[in-house]
Amino acid sequence: MAYAAFRSIGAYVPSKILSNEELSKMVDTSDEWITKRTGIKERHIAAADEFTSDMGAKAAKLAIERSGLKKSEIDMIVCATISPDYFCMPSTATIISTKLGLGNITAFDISAACTGFVYILSIAKAFIESGMKKNILIVGAEKLSAITDYSDRGTCILFGDGAGAAVISATENKEEAIIDIHTGSDGEFADLLMTPNGGSGSAHDALEQEATSCFMQMRGNETFKVAVKTLTKDVIDILRENSIQSSDIKHFVPHQANYRIIKAVGDALKLKDEQVVLTVEKYGNTSGASIPMAINDIYESGRLQAGELMLLDAFGGGLTWGSALVPFAPFKK
Ligand code: ACO
Repeated sequence: MAYAAFRSIGAYVPSKILSNEELSKMVDTSDEWITKRTGIKERHIAAADEFTSDMGAKAAKLAIERSGLKKSEIDMIVCATISPDYFCMPSTATIISTKLGLGNITAFDISAACTGFVYILSIAKAFIESGMKKNILIVGAEKLSAITDYSDRGTCILFGDGAGAAVISATENKEEAIIDIHTGSDGEFADLLMTPNGGSGSAHDALEQEATSCFMQMRGNETFKVAVKTLTKDVIDILRENSIQSSDIKHFVPHQANYRIIKAVGDALKLKDEQVVLTVEKYGNTSGASIPMAINDIYESGRLQAGELMLLDAFGGGLTWGSALVPFAPFKK
């Protein structure tokens, strides 16, 4: 039987920084409030002519190079994004694939908001374990600044832009295998976090749609409470079901939405500070890109070594959630 191994990671962060101080000149907020309530100090914003696919392609190029595979060996690409280059079609995955010259491979996007990376990891695992594909590129890429309302202090302080990518490959070595992935959803909470206009669910007259119609809206405090409850249960369940202790986790890599959510889940697992990967301070919430960007941070700083076990967890619009137990398993040289 083929198992799925997490081979490599790459990320891209746009150069422009938007600080809390700058935001406090745009809306009624302060560095003190944002830092205390979220842990965010700054976030990166893509250039006007820099699209989600541009960032995704840069992250993906690095991930392929670091895997050691040739581009021609990649046989599928899946992109998780809620800020695609174009709504509906074409998919951002097809654009990234062509920008990288990957040929006519299977390419599609999925929408699971901030849980997107865990969802595409589970898709890659399933395609590999079924024997349908061998080397899959998964990309979380977001230009959230394009769908953020910069007059709404409840959301604009949270979001940033960026991309992360990973290569998932078939292996026969069970020790390298992704151990387990949980994914879940509850559409009863759909209206807590949504882009209410612009789709077939809204009264649709293209000429009457305002430019702001695709902006995100969130009932933050209610979302916060569901996030803490759901994530805590999910990570406790995935560890118990796989007979893994929290002390066995080398890197807890949560979705980077809010430091207080991360702390609550980390405390529930009795994790030590050095086990918890934190990038929310410098990137804010980059939705589907946040987990691979955080993994890339520990990789580039030399903290992520072959064989080390990561626990990923995420929560986002939908509502959706997920967690994964993933050993880092680069190809042996
Ligand atoms: N600056 C100053 N004051 C503010 C700001 C701001 N930026 N935003 C809200 N406030 C005010 C509110 O108006 C309110 O004032 P009031 O008490 O006078 O009514 C007060 O601060 C408290 O507001 P809350 O919304 O209760 O603040 P909370 O502590 O919940 O923090 C936050 C808000 C940061 C949004 C938090 O609720 C959160 O992180 N929610 C979860 C986000 C999340 O995980 N989303 C899912 C992933 S995102 C995705 O899928 C795309």
